[in-house]
Amino acid sequence: MSREKIAITDLRPGMYVVRPDISWIKAPLLYMEEGFISSEEEIAEIYRQGYREVYHDPSRMKSPAGENEPEELPAESTEASTTQQPTVPLNEEMGQAQSIYADSFDLVKNFMESSSIGTADIAASQPYVESIIGSLDRNADALLSLAQLKTSDEYTYTHCVNVTIFAVAYAHFLNLPEDALHLVGLAALFHDYGKSAIPSEVLNAPRQLTPEELTLMRSHVLLGYERLKKLPGIAPEILQGAVQHHERHDGTGYPHKLSGKRIGVFGRIISISDNYDALVAKRVYKPSLAPTKALAIMYKMRGQAWASGWVERFIKMMGVYPVGSTVLLSTGEYGVVHAANMTFPTQPKVLVITDAHGRPVADTHGIDLYKCPDVSITRPLTHAEDKDIDVEAFLSLPCNA
Ligand SMILES: [Fe+2]
Repeated sequence: MSREKIAITDLRPGMYVVRPDISWIKAPLLYMEEGFISSEEEIAEIYRQGYREVYHDPSRMKSPAGENEPEELPAESTEASTTQQPTVPLNEEMGQAQSIYADSFDLVKNFMESSSIGTADIAASQPYVESIIGSLDRNADALLSLAQLKTSDEYTYTHCVNVTIFAVAYAHFLNLPEDALHLVGLAALFHDYGKSAIPSEVLNAPRQLTPEELTLMRSHVLLGYERLKKLPGIAPEILQGAVQHHERHDGTGYPHKLSGKRIGVFGRIISISDNYDALVAKRVYKPSLAPTKALAIMYKMRGQAWASGWVERFIKMMGVYPVGSTVLLSTGEYGVVHAANMTFPTQPKVLVITDAHGRPVADTHGIDLYKCPDVSITRPLTHAEDKDIDVEAFLSLPCNA
């Protein structure tokens, strides 16, 4: 019998768990129930019970039924936060969210610019992740909308903060336990750590990369992983998020061309968050993309980049028109989406900011499209139409609809 110790997050259906000759008192986080693992749900339950490591026998691995089938959407009951109501209005949470965002940006900039990383950097990052979790708990729309609006010349840093916000919100939406939210947050903050070793002329090239440059750029995954791996006590979930965030469900990703269920939950969450931010971000070589269009592009990639159901759930969390989206109403007025409607996603609450000719008005007012079926969203505003709109300022106004 061979045996190999792995993290619970690397456990897969079809693996055979073996019980080592170790007292549970000496290894309280080691799962020891001998036998085959039958499903992802079983793994999630083991994780939920607090176990973090397991021994398995690679020689007894079997292909579980449906290994190559697309994964099903989870039962509705697992999406706890879909019904979570904000405890603080959006306009009141915006100020705090802005300072949490700015602090997190400084944190990322510091550790990305320092020549070495240590366990202390991970520990020092925890309070920032806690602040992000706290703000998302009070009103998720504040940080989620900021993450879609923030753009800077220092893209690498804003990207890490944005991915952290999307990933923690998504992990919460998927009903992962509290300690997993912290680990997802840390994994996302450090997922691109290897980019600190990539020359900035390649990192910020305002053009398509040459094949050699692309190879160098892609090396950021293993560079970051190798450095993080050396930190004593680093959680396997953080390493998984970092090393798997460019893998794809169909096996065409990098660096290990993992496919299907070989890509873990942390890798999937960070991959989806990473892609969404890359699409909505403004870069030197491309304008920002409307959130609705970014989600539409990702929806087309379902089943290829990500297992079936994962993008659909992300869209359900973000809403068809994510908060902060700018829209043209059927009345001809421009509006900023202030609150999603989970049940009727095309009928959010909108702050109306212009008259019917697109001219700014002094007195903005809110409209609940669910309560006003005569008015609807015609389409998202184009970049040319919304480039001068200060969405962040409009989100800080009350929307009494
Ligand atoms: Fe990356």
